[in-house]
Amino acid sequence: MIESANSPSPQAFGFNALSDAFIKDPLPFMTKGLSEHPIVKHDVTLDPVYSIFRYEDVKRVLLDWETFSSEPINTDLDALNLGRATENFILMNPPRHTRLRGLAQQGFFPKVIKKFLPRAEQIAKERFEYALKVDEFDLVNDVSSQLTIGMITGILGLPADDWSIVRDWTNTMQRNTMASFWLTEWDDERADSVVRVTQEMADYFHDHLKFLRKNPQDDNILSTLMTTELDGERFSDEEIESTAMLLLLAGNETTTNLITNFIRCMVRYPSQFELLKKDPNLIDAAIEETLRLEPSLRMTIRSVCKDAEFHGVTIPAGNSVALWFLAANRDPSVFEKPNNFDITTKRPRHLSFAGGPHFCLGAPLARMEARVAANTLLQRVNQIELLGDPQMSDNGNLNNILSLKARFHGL
Ligand code: HEM
Repeated sequence: MIESANSPSPQAFGFNALSDAFIKDPLPFMTKGLSEHPIVKHDVTLDPVYSIFRYEDVKRVLLDWETFSSEPINTDLDALNLGRATENFILMNPPRHTRLRGLAQQGFFPKVIKKFLPRAEQIAKERFEYALKVDEFDLVNDVSSQLTIGMITGILGLPADDWSIVRDWTNTMQRNTMASFWLTEWDDERADSVVRVTQEMADYFHDHLKFLRKNPQDDNILSTLMTTELDGERFSDEEIESTAMLLLLAGNETTTNLITNFIRCMVRYPSQFELLKKDPNLIDAAIEETLRLEPSLRMTIRSVCKDAEFHGVTIPAGNSVALWFLAANRDPSVFEKPNNFDITTKRPRHLSFAGGPHFCLGAPLARMEARVAANTLLQRVNQIELLGDPQMSDNGNLNNILSLKARFHGL
């Protein structure tokens, strides 16, 4: 392997996404990666992992699935990652991926998503009314997560009473999303929680599917997937169960954080909030800027199947590579004034929904939920106060805010 001056030892630039320093402020690490060390090898972790930061590098990996596979390399280690612990299509390559994604896509066409708009508007209305009524509320637990859990339970046709079970699972999930790549020693407690929750979810969805078969419904995406046929093919029950779990894993915390971060950005960039109040047509641009600067998933992982070179450094086949969306979205060679939140400039496409064959299937739904939250905010709220610092997750792979106290002042 060629080690260039740009490939320092982890001691020289040894960030770890589970460390307190990274969780407190990941941006200095991203800036250093972008400007000085476009490829970094971390080898104090259980398995070595490489990090890349630049926009073109991240895009190259996302598009070249034959070299950079979505299938895990070390399945023992990967079993610690809840999002990756079930056999679902986010972990597959074409052609298996193409078939399953094609089927799941049937539940995500715009006309299907649109049916959920009134539900989103109703939940947002209730949550914002509550927030305006009380002196102080929790932006995450009383507003954003209520909207997204309400949506995902509707989409999967889950009983309303099960909201709290879903919230409990998502808490375990967020701690374990790709966290294993940063562990320096095996973590039994983490492994046990992953096994427990994976089993609970599998049993739950197994029973839920049986229920839906006996009581056919037509108002949720899971029921659509159960009857969907594409080129004469259908999902098997196991495939529907794992797809349901994937939707829950992929769509819940990510969208909660988008909504929370959108509101935080309105506080952090007050002149942009004022602009938006004057011209609500800029809502979509404001959502895209939030996604760019605050990607809910800060990175993803690919397995290197053939030796691959970046900036004079070869990543040998058999290693994992972390693609930092958080850095790529601020790459100054692509984005002008990359650290500015600017809703009036047309920006190149950010990578927060990834790209290539695994481009986020739920992107239209996430955008729709964020739009509903933003519209409700503009219609009802004049001023937002954030009361103290957010409580962050202990997994820096995600931009996960667990709690943030706030106060709204109505119009
Ligand atoms: C702001 C919200 C969201 C963000 C930032 C986000 C981000 C992402 C990213 C980065 C990926 C690619 C992961 C990889 O290839 O390693 C992905 C894939 C995926 N997302 Fe999202 N997501 C969001 C919301 C949603 C929602 C609401 C759903 C559905 C309910 C969803 C379902 C999926 C699925 C099924 C995949 C796998 C696609 C495939 O493998 O072909 N996501 N998402």
